[in-house]
Amino acid sequence: MPPETVEWNGDAQGSLIGGQDVAALPAVREAPRVSSDFMALANAVLCHRDPQRHALLYRLLWRMGQGERGLLDHATDADVHRAEVLAKSVRRDTHKMKAFVRFREVPGETEAFVAWFEPEHYIVDRVAPFFARRFAGMRWAILTPYRSAHWDGHALAFGPGGVRADAPEDDARESLWRTYYANIFNPARLNPTMMRSEMPQKYWKHLPETQLLPELIQNAGARVREMAERAPELPRRRIPEAPAEPVLTADDSLDAVRAAAAACRRCELWQPATRTVFGEGPDDARVVLMGEQPGDEEDLSGRPFVGPAGKLLDRVLAELGIDRRTLYLTNAVKHFRFEQRGKRRLHRNPTSTQVQACRPWLQQELARIDPQLIVCLGANAARTVLGGDFQLMAQRGQWRVMAEGARALATLHPSWVLRQPEGEARQAALALFKNDLALLAAALPQ
Ligand code: URA
Repeated sequence: MPPETVEWNGDAQGSLIGGQDVAALPAVREAPRVSSDFMALANAVLCHRDPQRHALLYRLLWRMGQGERGLLDHATDADVHRAEVLAKSVRRDTHKMKAFVRFREVPGETEAFVAWFEPEHYIVDRVAPFFARRFAGMRWAILTPYRSAHWDGHALAFGPGGVRADAPEDDARESLWRTYYANIFNPARLNPTMMRSEMPQKYWKHLPETQLLPELIQNAGARVREMAERAPELPRRRIPEAPAEPVLTADDSLDAVRAAAAACRRCELWQPATRTVFGEGPDDARVVLMGEQPGDEEDLSGRPFVGPAGKLLDRVLAELGIDRRTLYLTNAVKHFRFEQRGKRRLHRNPTSTQVQACRPWLQQELARIDPQLIVCLGANAARTVLGGDFQLMAQRGQWRVMAEGARALATLHPSWVLRQPEGEARQAALALFKNDLALLAAALPQ
């Protein structure tokens, strides 16, 4: 029947087709096909209190059946728009009911709870399955003025509405809840407009915490002023205060420099590293051997050249008859720079800023030891001592006289030697390394 010929009679259409089998009605034509979007919309609209909801849905259904297939896409169509407005209001009410139902324990029963709620629309059937899932393990009932829902732990049942007095007024949990709410209430963040939009006043009667609101709101201004006047509480520092780096003079010993360097924070490398790895050896050594930066084992032990590169160095020195104990071994950078990969710490080259930040320590070491010979291991060490444009492969293995009178020589880094493919390449690299260090052996007094 065309919609304009049908008169919808308020809420009485529950008996419209009086329990008859719809398919058996004489006038039923082929049922119009509708999308699942329409079914979802209709489901929501049917819960609305508007007495015209059935008329509206019938009109939409009729029009779709008459060929207006994409009708729901026309948001500006008056019927579509009205249906969306009603559905939105029902969805909002549904959401609020999920948020604001508060169960109270039934006195004298174990694990039985009753809630009183006054929804705006007919949404009890729509929302009850949510509570059945959420509170599956307890027995509960939600009473509303028009309908009630009951869950016995197994099945949902619906019954007539009730009155507020059917539900317990208060229970022990409620005062706990109020205490909690009063404690988390932040007066500085009070925004009554937002609060009313999120928690509309019509639901306040269901919420124990709202009894506190007038007082909390009234006192908020004074509490904020008091908070502002209170001395600020500084956040607890998780990084220990930087120990003050002692100021050194030229008279301070190498040990004093070592102690000062232990507190170094001149660049960020101190943070991930375990410790400063300072130079090691006699403070009047004739020879300083200088690498780039400590590696993993050096960082852990606190001593330079103790890992694989150090072991190769030791071997070559021993073969050349050089006693490591007579040398001062150090690095251009005194903290290990690495990248964490799982459990492994992979070496990363220090940046030029980090080398610069560390340079004063090297200068202090060299100033105190005053060596005659400096051997730089690898390009980075060589550039620190012999200048930024030093070309290791072209210029290695030659003594150069430095401004201070000492002589310096650069050779390969033992780690680089170890990185060469085993066999010929490694042997060739090792031979170069050993030849260069032989120049050191030759420069030492016999
Ligand atoms: N490589 C270096 O340059 N220095 C060390 O101390 C160890 C490995």
